[in-house]
Amino acid sequence: MKILVLGTGGREHGILEALRRTQHPDHPHELFAAPGNPGMARLAQCRAVDAGNPTAVVALAGELGVDLVVVGPEAPLVAGIADALREAGVPTVGPDAEAARLEGSKSFAKEVMTAAGVPTAEARVCTDEDSVPAALDAFATNAAGEAVPWVVKADGLAGGKGVVVTTDREEAQRHAADCIAKEGHVVVEEYLDGPEASVFCLLDGTSAIALPAAQDFKRAGDGDLGPNTGGMGAYSPLAWVPADLEAEVVRTIAQPVADEMARRGNPFVGVLYVGLALTAAGPRVVEFNVRFGDPDSQAVLARLTSPLAELLHATATGTLSDAAGPTFTDDAACVVVLAADGYPAAPVKGGQLTGIAEAEARGVTVLHAGTRTEDDRLLADGGRVLDVVARGADLAHARENAYAGLSLIDLPGGWARTDIAAEAAAGRITL
Ligand SMILES: Nc1ncnc2c1ncn2[C@@H]1O[C@H](COP(=O)(O)OP(=O)(O)O)[C@@H](O)[C@H]1O
Ligand SMILES: [Mg+2]
Repeated sequence: MKILVLGTGGREHGILEALRRTQHPDHPHELFAAPGNPGMARLAQCRAVDAGNPTAVVALAGELGVDLVVVGPEAPLVAGIADALREAGVPTVGPDAEAARLEGSKSFAKEVMTAAGVPTAEARVCTDEDSVPAALDAFATNAAGEAVPWVVKADGLAGGKGVVVTTDREEAQRHAADCIAKEGHVVVEEYLDGPEASVFCLLDGTSAIALPAAQDFKRAGDGDLGPNTGGMGAYSPLAWVPADLEAEVVRTIAQPVADEMARRGNPFVGVLYVGLALTAAGPRVVEFNVRFGDPDSQAVLARLTSPLAELLHATATGTLSDAAGPTFTDDAACVVVLAADGYPAAPVKGGQLTGIAEAEARGVTVLHAGTRTEDDRLLADGGRVLDVVARGADLAHARENAYAGLSLIDLPGGWARTDIAAEAAAGRITL
């Protein structure tokens, strides 16, 4: 198959790596990336086309004659890249702009979940500051009458900076006021208590399937302290969730959302990322994203043994129910992100990376998240620089292998969390 992957980061490198690894040896794919990165260039032909420019992307897909386009990041989807590709007759993994509002607007996602009967936090949308105190009062305590944090969310894409979870009522009120000033409204919702998990579902417009669950780590510091980041690590599968979690997510969340979007005339074609809190009352949706997660999808795809191209093509062409379901290794995978000095506040670019070949010789896969080349040297070119992906017979071994690989890589000032998957590997996450 001829496949074009749009994006620049570790997620897109991970997708290309999985496409290559699971291809039939007699029928290798022709892989392209736009704009790609130096790591992706080892697996695919990179084209300097802006993934956010629909005209340019449609022209490239036509010129290359691709059978499939996979859209990595959310912004081009929200801006309508998939509409343009499908209009041009190109099978595409990624929803149209209207369906991408499931990520682009938290109030739209709530409206769809309510209509579809999907379990999620109760929420109120406030359009003026005066209605915020009553909403905060409504969600101040849990069912047992105990005080819980307030959850106040900006509606639109905010790059991980739109949500405030706080026990400080003034801070909650202030964030709500900021959101109303910027967007005209704000979402105030019930606090969900429980560990979080991500389940990636593939929706072909009609039917839905789920991949094994993963967990990611958004905070910069060990122990989930410090500022929010794009994601510092991940692992899969989750030994601490019920064995039927993925099936339950399809039955109670993904399929009802697929049905509701189809009923609205906006069928969802692509990856529905279901962010869950596993509460005492069962799984509840924290949020939807409309594409693979980064770096959690790298952990999931590392264990895929069946052909990814066929699975994604079936997703894009409405034939998932006829396709063979995906299969996975029965071991574990762990991803640790190497970040640049100063990330997330002010990442230092330009540091030289060495030791990647040595790490790969030890069996880890190194995905490029933010790199560039200059005179044959590989340099850091973003906040998150590399993903070290390792498998192991169990999670403890997977994380040991990932950290052993990471220890062979050098980036001046570079840093990583030291506790990715540690609690889970020690069996300390319980429901
Ligand atoms: N209702 C909620 N209860 C408890 N924590 C929440 C709730 N909603 C969000 N959070 C926390 O805030 C984080 C960010 O919220 P999310 O809705 O995923 O927004 P985004 O990823 O767009 O920043 C979540 O991963 C979760 O840790
Ligand atoms: Mg989130």
